[in-house]
Amino acid sequence: MDFVLVHLDWLDCHLSYLSDMSPSDEANMKHPHSSEIELDEPESFEPVLKGTAAGVLSPGVSRRSFVKSASAVGVGVAAGLPHLAVAQAAHEAAASATRRTDVSLSVNGKMHPLNLDTRTTLLDALREHMNLTGSKKGCDHGQCGACTVLLDGRRVNSCLTLAVSAAGAEVITVEGLAKGDELSLVQQAFLEHDGFQCGYCTPGQICSATALMEEAGKGQLSQVSWVSGNTIKPEITDAEIRERMSGNICRCGAYPNIVAAVRTALGKGASA
Ligand code: FES
Ligand code: FES
Repeated sequence: MDFVLVHLDWLDCHLSYLSDMSPSDEANMKHPHSSEIELDEPESFEPVLKGTAAGVLSPGVSRRSFVKSASAVGVGVAAGLPHLAVAQAAHEAAASATRRTDVSLSVNGKMHPLNLDTRTTLLDALREHMNLTGSKKGCDHGQCGACTVLLDGRRVNSCLTLAVSAAGAEVITVEGLAKGDELSLVQQAFLEHDGFQCGYCTPGQICSATALMEEAGKGQLSQVSWVSGNTIKPEITDAEIRERMSGNICRCGAYPNIVAAVRTALGKGASA
């Protein structure tokens, strides 16, 4: 807004200056490289205006009348700017106003009554408000899968899910997969096959693999199923596993061991 105001101010000053010039002043304003161009002659504008956007002006318009018209438009725009500034300020105030709401989230079988900014993501609600830090923040843009949790059994990127939208659903995080000291099948398989190095992506990988097993049990298809033509209760091959886990990125490149872990969890043996 400041940028626009400064430039309109500049334009207005210059247009006022030009419109206040006497004809003799204008006669002195010749093109630096051409003595033939007479800017105050109406005819000199015609070839320029024809065939251009500026051609909406009448062909016989003089530079003086053009400058005066433009100046009047500039003043009109400037007169409207205070209203624009007020509207802009009101918009910014509304955008920055915090709106909070009470919400109860069921996570790993336990209710969590919370009072949240309505813009809070499920990932931030888990990590910052429930102290469930198993779900990781990698990209915070839905691209890495480190934040994957299960929402009513379906895997979601919790960094792209508003916490308030999870009200009424059952959220399962990596902390909720084991039963006491008994690890889930997938967790156990990741341990057996060293399905991680730094471990940062691992909670998301494990949640994703848990949902994968559920999806495979229901005969749900992936892109690979269509490519292979195996569209009736597809066999979960390594290609299927890689495709179905492709939303979870591992910077350490532990993919071969992750595939082996998922195969084992599916009861298929560690290698094809
Ligand atoms: Fe959510 Fe990367 S942190 S997808
Ligand atoms: Fe390091 Fe996957 S184990 S990012």
